Amino acid sequence: MKTIKIAIFGLGVVGSHVVKLLEKNSYTLDNTKFKIVSISAKNKNKKRNFNVKKYPWFKDFFDLSQSNKPDLIIETIGGSGKFINDLYKYCLKNKISLITANKAQLAENGHSFFGDFDEMNLYLGFEAAVLGAVPVVRAIEQSILPSKINSIYGIFNGTTNYIISQMYENKISFQESLNQAIKNGFAEQDSSADLSGRDANHKLVLLSNLSFGNKFEFSNLDYDGIENIKLIDLEQGLKLGYKLKLVSISERHNKKFYSSVAPCFIPENSLVAKTDFEENVISLEGDDFLKSSLVGKGAGGYPTATSIISDLKRYLTHTDEKGIFKIKYQNMPKASFINHSLRTRPYYLRMSVLNKVGVLKSIAQIFAQKSISIKSLIQLNTSNEKIVPIIIISDPVGIDKISKVVKNLKNSNFLKKEISVIRIEENIG
Ligand SMILES: NC(=O)c1ccc[n+]([C@@H]2O[C@H](COP(=O)([O-])OP(=O)(O)OC[C@H]3O[C@@H](n4cnc5c(N)ncnc54)[C@H](OP(=O)(O)O)[C@@H]3O)[C@@H](O)[C@H]2O)c1
Repeated sequence: MKTIKIAIFGLGVVGSHVVKLLEKNSYTLDNTKFKIVSISAKNKNKKRNFNVKKYPWFKDFFDLSQSNKPDLIIETIGGSGKFINDLYKYCLKNKISLITANKAQLAENGHSFFGDFDEMNLYLGFEAAVLGAVPVVRAIEQSILPSKINSIYGIFNGTTNYIISQMYENKISFQESLNQAIKNGFAEQDSSADLSGRDANHKLVLLSNLSFGNKFEFSNLDYDGIENIKLIDLEQGLKLGYKLKLVSISERHNKKFYSSVAPCFIPENSLVAKTDFEENVISLEGDDFLKSSLVGKGAGGYPTATSIISDLKRYLTHTDEKGIFKIKYQNMPKASFINHSLRTRPYYLRMSVLNKVGVLKSIAQIFAQKSISIKSLIQLNTSNEKIVPIIIISDPVGIDKISKVVKNLKNSNFLKKEISVIRIEENIG
């Protein structure tokens, strides 16, 4: 039986469950023995869910001697700082393959080492880094890639989906929902990477590289989060047949691309709208297949560790011709993007305005100046006689024009309080 020597760096939520799963399988997968030659974390004395003493402990990777040099490192530490960069350089210098759950490192710094891993024919598995237990990398690689993928979209972050779902279910504010999510273990005390859309964007970068065979760079992609969403907009959207979700989209426009992570209204009966709480979903649309979707847990110790085990199996069949993204990274063209203003969508605008003759006419004029038609205008009930809340749904329009309308509305003397602007994605299925 073949033996593969592995080192596991990071023994937290994900790493400790990788050890547990390997123990459960007697360290054997597909007739190959995986021998743990080293484990490491920050604090050696921390209580863990497995017997740490069974394995050699190394303070860090520089301690690994030639005799216990691993064939493969599993990195479940996280982050994209110097220590992690040094670990990836160490792998390259010592010809060690890598399996990682670390989407931040791959999405933000990957462009500086993907090519080297490919050139040296080293395996770099990242199934666990994108959508946890949802086997999307494998699905794209094995079954869908021969067909041309035209768009990928879905919910790529479980924490924000949990917060939004709770707002709907319990009719509570964003802040109350965030507090509950922290209490229930679905959000960290510092969830800024989730809430800002950064984490979803990390995954979108990696999945776009894989789906389109172009180099997408994190710094070129727009992302927006859910910190400013309001319960009232969720409720009003439902009345119009829409549900709000943090939607990640990447789509082909001839030779260019459009990518975005943003809170959007989508049809309430779509699969994406019905994917609630900590679940993630990804849909892929292409030339030869109409649509293919995968739904599942995007996080959690066992679910994510399962994806690492799946990568261990894939490592065994990894061949020299295959690159990280199925195509060698150095042969992938750099993705270029359409001007976002060319992509037109309807927008939802909610605002409070003075209850005065002529105000509606002024609003209509501001829209008309930018050649935007108003599809519908709804006046909401209020006990306040002086100020009325209204909702406007625009016809499809580019982001540049709607931004100018919002600016002019803000400069008017009839707008009171803030204005909510939400893009409507009617085609999300
Ligand atoms: N949690 C999930 O559900 C999930 C899902 C998908 C992807 N991921 C990704 O998986 C990675 C790990 O996430 P996690 O939730 O398992 O994190 P975690 O529970 O915080 O575990 C991180 C581990 O890294 C160790 N560590 C920190 N700094 C270190 C250093 N300088 N040297 C060696 N070890 C160090 C920690 O040591 P101590 O234990 O001693 O503190 C801990 O064992 C991240 O990239 C994350 O984005 C997580």
